[in-house]
Amino acid sequence: MEDRLVFDSRYRVGVEQVDLEHQKLFELAGRIYDSISLDVIVPMHEIRTAINELIDCTRSHFAHEELLMENSAYPHLEDHRALHADLIARIEDFEIQAEKAELLTPVDVYEFLCSWLGEHILTNDRMFGEFISHRAAALHS
Ligand SMILES: [Fe+2]
Repeated sequence: MEDRLVFDSRYRVGVEQVDLEHQKLFELAGRIYDSISLDVIVPMHEIRTAINELIDCTRSHFAHEELLMENSAYPHLEDHRALHADLIARIEDFEIQAEKAELLTPVDVYEFLCSWLGEHILTNDRMFGEFISHRAAALHS
């Protein structure tokens, strides 16, 4: 399994609201990691609660991020929206599986989170951060 996700400076995209929400997602992912890896038995309902919270946070985070992109006339908005839609579709699959608890393993959820938090933030979200910082620099020059 992947290591525990830690929100460090690499993951900062430079847009305050986005960074704060990403940090929150990392915290929730960390809770899922702990519940999987610590040598204590965590009741399944607690794991499911953490996963549901994560799903809610992810949905609202994507909506906020897309709104920020829309308001700043970000040229890659449609591509980014498609990436989010794909991630949401995969999260919805987890929701369906969560109803049938025996099919859902927290490890699957955690591995999925590592890939999207890692790859999506470090590539696609950071691209948006760079766009915002160039735009701000142009406005002030
Ligand atoms: Fe994003």
